[in-house]
Amino acid sequence: MSVRVVVGLQWGDEGKGKVVDYLARDADYIVRYQGGANAGHTVKVEDRIYVFHLIPSGILHPSGICVIGNGVVVDPESLVEEIAGLESQGIDVCGRLRISHAAHLVLPVHRLLDQLYESSRDAPRIGTTGRGIGPAYSDKAGRVGIRMVDLLDEKSLEAKLTALLGRHRAVLAGAPNSPPGVSDLLQLCRGYHERLAPLISDVSAIINRAIDQGKSVLLEGAQGAHLDVDHGTYPYVTSSSTVAGGAPPGCGIGPARITGVIGIAKAYTTRVGEGPFPTELEGPEARHLKEKGREFGATTGRPRRCGWFDLLAVRRSAMINGVSELVITKIDVLDGLPSLKICVGYRTGDGLREQFPMEPWFLQDCQPLYREFDGWGPGETSGGRLPSNARKYLDFISGELDIPIRLVSAGMGRADVIIL
Ligand code: GDP
Ligand code: IMO
Ligand code: MG
Repeated sequence: MSVRVVVGLQWGDEGKGKVVDYLARDADYIVRYQGGANAGHTVKVEDRIYVFHLIPSGILHPSGICVIGNGVVVDPESLVEEIAGLESQGIDVCGRLRISHAAHLVLPVHRLLDQLYESSRDAPRIGTTGRGIGPAYSDKAGRVGIRMVDLLDEKSLEAKLTALLGRHRAVLAGAPNSPPGVSDLLQLCRGYHERLAPLISDVSAIINRAIDQGKSVLLEGAQGAHLDVDHGTYPYVTSSSTVAGGAPPGCGIGPARITGVIGIAKAYTTRVGEGPFPTELEGPEARHLKEKGREFGATTGRPRRCGWFDLLAVRRSAMINGVSELVITKIDVLDGLPSLKICVGYRTGDGLREQFPMEPWFLQDCQPLYREFDGWGPGETSGGRLPSNARKYLDFISGELDIPIRLVSAGMGRADVIIL
């Protein structure tokens, strides 16, 4: 029996999808527990590339049951499209997907509110994915959200939709086009009911039973620790608990059932959207990372900001997540760079810090203190090999964090994984 959480330790896009697909070979259940269609998890199998937004990244293995937990905010339109896309390629989704009755819906009104908030001059622009995530979680916390189970009871749905729209009347009045009304949303919900009702389940009962039976469960995080609503670089964060501690409430299991936390970090750092990024690069090294790493957002296509590996940021997220083992991805992207840097401290006018700071202004102003490493040649991490300089680079990270690196990923494909 194992119940392992897979989490991102940076600002998202660490390669969680790839790693979950790899680990899912041996998993009976693969569970998403937070976030929504803001996530874009890419898996490459042979020549095909799949991008998952809501469906867990284990769906390509025919035996695993995939579960969307109560902590996820589900955009039914996005989900239905994702299911159809996979089923058209012969992948059985509906037979193996369960959606929590308590998961909240992202409605078109949430996407509209996301855009309106982002274009408002009164608050900082976050650079969201525009998927309605913040507004949907706000409505959940504000107790006017619509849950999956509400689709099953049309009689009470109209009153719930009226309450939800009423909450946002003032803001929606500023929309350039007339926003959807109650009857429009009701109509949409009827369609969602038709497509999704058979998948709505008590997933907490399903997962707990599976654990009792000694099954293997993978809990797939979305985003990354520094985008966590509590622990991230607030306000430049997403609106959910992305850390491992968010997994138990996000799928309805007790925290003591977790047997391990796998932290994923890229061999460098990327970030999409606004917010501080002390090791961000410009110039030829940034171009190398962006081009070789194909650093464009899987959900929005936006170019990702790129920079050196930040040990302080990852040490902080390893602590918050209670990481028991590490996976380092995209080591191949560093192939061919003559020298590499890892940030080991932040310098400001007040001196040197060796811990990730709590003050947001500090991150904006600091200068990273780097330790330099010799690089290795082009293509040297291919074919399951790790040149000695790559070993030194990885050993330094593992030693400084005092956490073993179990896997190193050196390419997009399933075969490009080195077991340490
Ligand atoms: P996620 O959101 O954490 O699942 O990550 P994304 O899928 O958004 O972004 C990671 C990108 O890097 C995807 O295009 C992956 O296919 C790709 N990728 C994952 N691991 C590796 C690796 O080891 N090397 C290379 N070159 N690409 C990788
Ligand atoms: P995966 O799971 C990278 C970022 C957005 C923005 C902030 C808030 O693929 O790693 P939101 O739409 O959530 O309100 O946006 O969070 N963001 C991500 N960045 N990877 C993601 O997911 C992200 N999901 C949200 O760019 O800065
Ligand atoms: Mg992604």
